[in-house]
Amino acid sequence: MKRIGVVTAGGDAPGMNAAIRAIVRSATYNGLEVIGIERGYAGLFEGRYRILDRRSVSGIINLGGTILRTIRCEEIKTDEGIKRAAEFLKSIRIDGLIAIGGDGTFRGASRLYRASGIPMIGVPATIDNDVAGTDTTIGFDTAVNTALDAIDKIRDTATSHERIFVVEVMGRRRGFLALEVGLAGGAEIILIPEIKVDLEKVCDRIKRDREEGKVSEIIVMAEGAGDSRQITEYIARETGQNVRLAVLGHIQRGGVPTARSRILACEFGYKAVELLLTGESKRMVGIRGSEITSVDLDYSWMTEKEIDLSRHRLAEILSL
Ligand code: F6P
Repeated sequence: MKRIGVVTAGGDAPGMNAAIRAIVRSATYNGLEVIGIERGYAGLFEGRYRILDRRSVSGIINLGGTILRTIRCEEIKTDEGIKRAAEFLKSIRIDGLIAIGGDGTFRGASRLYRASGIPMIGVPATIDNDVAGTDTTIGFDTAVNTALDAIDKIRDTATSHERIFVVEVMGRRRGFLALEVGLAGGAEIILIPEIKVDLEKVCDRIKRDREEGKVSEIIVMAEGAGDSRQITEYIARETGQNVRLAVLGHIQRGGVPTARSRILACEFGYKAVELLLTGESKRMVGIRGSEITSVDLDYSWMTEKEIDLSRHRLAEILSL
């Protein structure tokens, strides 16, 4: 093993840069050369890459986004694309590739491994935290805190104006972010794709709240739980209350990574290089409790990650 590649793909997540730094510094410490593939998997088709030496990753541990950039790439999803990308990796003499991203990124990496035989290691980084085989992902903690900060501010207005706020957070398919943020923010109601949304029940809860003297409610919903605009209108109509919608959007994907996201990135990056050096060829790095572990790369995207629904119940009880 002489030369390894690193790529960031899928949606950006705070801490990706800290992971790139950790990979480059761990690899150079072990005498490896590192190539950074630019613009996600698109760089494999465009021939865009650059050498990353120790100094090239100075001052990035605290930066959101990814210095390598990440473009949504459709070509990598096709058989022809995989063939071309595998050929390109061979042509630049890559002995191993570390892919930083989410389940889509790992699916691509896994197919690239089968087509090229080049070892592939996944480093989970997504604010959705929807990757099986790891308790948490790089960027998740930062996104939770960003959304929480917004919700705390929204609550000031909700209370002052005796309003209901529907706050839509990211999570196209899964509700990890909404659940975490909802519990931490003291939300009265949390709507996630994993639990069938029952708007009648939501309205009953609000009516009961008001009878019992509550003056405002925060409803945190994952974007994948339904149409937030329609839900807001329905609740306003059925309860007769003043309801507002706040869509937090992409502010949740950016910003300075928290200490937790950075430390995870440091540990994951180091472990990824270690896995390549010990001859592993298709793994994803993860964390279980406080232990840095790894699972088969295919497990990460073929398995549906379990969500802890007891937290949903807990949030409901604690916000009564
Ligand atoms: O990074 C994952 C995610 O944040 C999803 O929760 C969201 O639906 C999606 O990315 C939106 O990303 P984009 O705007 O890049 O398509």
